[in-house]
Amino acid sequence: MAVRILISVLIISLFSFTYASDPAPLQDFCVAVKDNEAKVFVNGKICKDPNMVSADDFFFPGLNMPGNTSNAQGSKVTPVNVNQLPGLNTLGISLVRIDYAPYGLNPPHTHPRATEVLVVVEGTLFVGFVTSNPADPNVKNKLFTKTLYPGDVFVFPEGLIHFQFNVGKTNAFVFAGLSSQNPGVITIANAVFGSDPPINLDVLTKAFQVDANVIKYLQAQFK
Ligand SMILES: *[C@@H]1O[C@H](CO)[C@@H](O)[C@H](O)[C@H]1NC(C)=O
Repeated sequence: MAVRILISVLIISLFSFTYASDPAPLQDFCVAVKDNEAKVFVNGKICKDPNMVSADDFFFPGLNMPGNTSNAQGSKVTPVNVNQLPGLNTLGISLVRIDYAPYGLNPPHTHPRATEVLVVVEGTLFVGFVTSNPADPNVKNKLFTKTLYPGDVFVFPEGLIHFQFNVGKTNAFVFAGLSSQNPGVITIANAVFGSDPPINLDVLTKAFQVDANVIKYLQAQFK
């Protein structure tokens, strides 16, 4: 009996696949039709008529240009995903350039659909990610950090909260590859304290174990 159950489990596990990244393409390419021109909505984007596809559908210029870091965080992400480069549709991959002013921060965030692998081109970055909750409730979420210099590569595993902080006195920039045509970004502070409408005060005071005034103060920073 036990052997039969074991064999059934083995057979089931052989034939059930789960995909942690974008589904594989079923043709050479499927250049995305812009959302506002699409007649139907599907999981992903529909394909442009292959006879109308040109080299420009696979092209995106200008990633040599620094992003404008004049903002509160002192950083700027320039994405090149399926929304900017329609030829990436169904290919499970995308790219960003990130610029950081001195002491600029790409604040704690996650990509719900992608692992990110980053290479530093210029500057010195303090980077890190935090694991998901351990099975043992007495063990804390673990932080992994590293200081990176030009040429250094670091990987942020799919879905985990991560950040990059420019700890140098000069501008910094990186390129990063992401394992999705549309990785998505959830910036923790914006999502939790800056949602529209705001998350109920009772929910946030209980979640963060602080006074309502602290939550109101934090919400005011993300208006
Ligand atoms: C950068 O952004 C700031 C703030 O939005 C703006 O005032 C400034 O003109 C921008 N600089 C460039 C070079 O575009």
